[in-house]
Amino acid sequence: MNAVEVTHYGRVSRYLHWGMALLFVWQFLTTSVRVLLSDTALDELLWATHKPTGLLLLVLVVLRMDWALLSRASRPAALNAAARLGHLALYGLMLLVPSLALLRQYGSGRTFEPFGIPLMPGFEGEIEWMVASGSLFHGVLGWVLLALIVGHVAMVMWHRRQGQDVLGRMLVR
Ligand code: HEM
Ligand code: HEM
Repeated sequence: MNAVEVTHYGRVSRYLHWGMALLFVWQFLTTSVRVLLSDTALDELLWATHKPTGLLLLVLVVLRMDWALLSRASRPAALNAAARLGHLALYGLMLLVPSLALLRQYGSGRTFEPFGIPLMPGFEGEIEWMVASGSLFHGVLGWVLLALIVGHVAMVMWHRRQGQDVLGRMLVR
């Protein structure tokens, strides 16, 4: 029997991709307001969502990676090695950026109750290496992730101009 060529991502992959894309837009909006309009009422309002949204994104990316592995036989093949590498880098940073922030959050010894869930009860003092690695890398790698996302969207548009309907692979059949 001939193998049938897979032309589209399935429903679960599409919902995860576009749902997370929306959350990332929100996450970078709040972060940009933080940098450009710091200490304004808007900043205070939006920044309150940064940690819970970041945690939600981490949970979703873990589910998404599991799903990608489980469904790998029924996903369209990568266009080329660069696309595969680019997607891997996106996954790497989607995992690393919030993990570093959570490490710092834990190491700070402060309580952390996202969505009212007592995730970290807190303790006296702090764990220096955890705080230092989060502070050194979380923000910088967060901006690298944004640059990669911009590049990712640019590549999708470039492929379309070359006549390859790559966007269609991520849309409803
Ligand atoms: C994928 C999820 C996340 C992304 C893309 C992200 C992105 C960023 C970026 C780009 C900055 C730098 C802002 C600046 O230059 O001033 C930042 C700062 C910060 N983030 Fe996140 N973040 C995420 C998740 C989290 C989580 C889960 C937490 C806490 C549990 C968190 C806590 C913070 C804090 C406290 C800062 C300010 C201190 C610093 O610049 O490191 N973030 N985030
Ligand atoms: C408007 C924004 C976006 C557009 C138009 C877009 C478009 C696409 C398209 C067309 C594909 C299929 C590529 C292929 O088959 O080779 C894709 C895949 C992918 N995109 Fe996006 N994307 C966007 C935002 C994002 C964001 C914010 C992320 C996460 C940081 C992301 C991560 C990925 C990943 C990891 C894949 C590989 C397939 C998968 O495992 O889900 N995309 N995107």
